[in-house]
Amino acid sequence: MVESESSGLPHTERLEDLYLKALREKIRKIKELEQRVKKLEEVNRSLEMEKKLMERQRLKLEREVRSLRKEIEKMNAPPLITGTLIELLPDGRAVVKSTTGPNFVVRISSKVKRESLSPGCMVAMNQRSYAIVEVLPSSKDPVVMNMEIEERPGVTYNDIGGLKEQIEEIRETVELPLLRPDLFEKVGIEPPKGVLLYGPPGCGKTLLAKAVASQTKATFIRVIASEFVRKYIGEGARLVREVFQLAREKSPSIIFIDEIDAIAAKRLDDSTSGDREVHRTLMQLLSEMDGFDPRGDVRIIGATNRPDILDPAILRPGRFDRLIEIPLPSEEGRYEIFKIHTRRMNLSDDVSLRELAKLTEGATGADIRQICIEAGMFAIKEGRDYVSNRDFLLGIEKVLKKELGAKTQEGMYF
Ligand SMILES: Nc1ncnc2c1ncn2[C@@H]1O[C@H](COP(=O)(O)OP(=O)(O)OP(=O)(O)O)[C@@H](O)[C@H]1O
Ligand SMILES: [Mg+2]
Repeated sequence: MVESESSGLPHTERLEDLYLKALREKIRKIKELEQRVKKLEEVNRSLEMEKKLMERQRLKLEREVRSLRKEIEKMNAPPLITGTLIELLPDGRAVVKSTTGPNFVVRISSKVKRESLSPGCMVAMNQRSYAIVEVLPSSKDPVVMNMEIEERPGVTYNDIGGLKEQIEEIRETVELPLLRPDLFEKVGIEPPKGVLLYGPPGCGKTLLAKAVASQTKATFIRVIASEFVRKYIGEGARLVREVFQLAREKSPSIIFIDEIDAIAAKRLDDSTSGDREVHRTLMQLLSEMDGFDPRGDVRIIGATNRPDILDPAILRPGRFDRLIEIPLPSEEGRYEIFKIHTRRMNLSDDVSLRELAKLTEGATGADIRQICIEAGMFAIKEGRDYVSNRDFLLGIEKVLKKELGAKTQEGMYF
């Protein structure tokens, strides 16, 4: 179009044409440039993004380096020595007994708060100067820490047969003072401090304590007295102290000391050094029991099947002042126990628990449990999925070593 116009036009017009052409060319170039700028801008934006990403990554890596540096520092730090603070001297220093043995007079780092230091507390000391650099939390023997029962046993009062009065009594003397201390305050008496369960083996002492443990809301600390018997002098007494301390910290609480005769046997004159250490442990126990605020929130339950060998000191009022006998079950009791242990068993119609209770004169709760298990075993042996009367009779014969003639005769005997 431009050429056809330009052919017959005067000189000036041609010039204009040329000018226009040049202008158009320029516009085209500008557009091209604009496009390039746009592209570059895009590139710029993406680079910008990348930069931000990199920046973030750099920060992350820097953080990692810092934490690794700290870790290396920690790894390289020399170990600290532990010790027990004995005395704070007026000049700002302290006497410390190190766990390696000797006592030292040491300086205290300014980082350690003075108020947190008290004689008897555990401290950490620099290895070279022995200066106190840290106060450690009071340490308890892991043995003691493990005595607190966190997983409550799944035993309820309904799982105990024939000990209604005893259950009532233990709830009155152990749980009531913890739950309703006001009642005792109003009447003006001190609730019994300790309850001792005694009676022949296998009649439910430990079982009763388990039920208390699972039903009470108080902290339950369970100790087997023989755990207090230690190799080194003073260790047993220390454990007793720590158990009672734990109980006080976590009050309201119940301490259950099973098989207490292991440490509370009568003190005799002709004793060995081992016996004397056990006696020291007992003395610590006695003094801990005396040291309580009587209406305090710590109750003690002891259990033994040898009350006759107990030291009279432990039975005097103010210590174990309530004795609860857990006797051999009566016929009614045996019936109840049979009921409990056959709850989940598949019994045939000919089984009469009343009759079984009659036949098991003198059996303990543990015996009855064993009889039920044996009866079940006989049923399994014969490939049945129900337990018959004869199985129970065989069980009684096996466990109580009684002759009922169950082997020769089939079926009913009564
Ligand atoms: N009264 C009872 N009711 C139901 N089961 C009982 C009863 N007495 C004992 N048992 C059964 O016998 C087992 C043993 O009882 P437990 O451990 O309480 O005996 P113990 O009195 O503590 O004996 P020991 O003096 O030897 O420690 C229990 O786990 C339970 O299965
Ligand atoms: Mg027991």
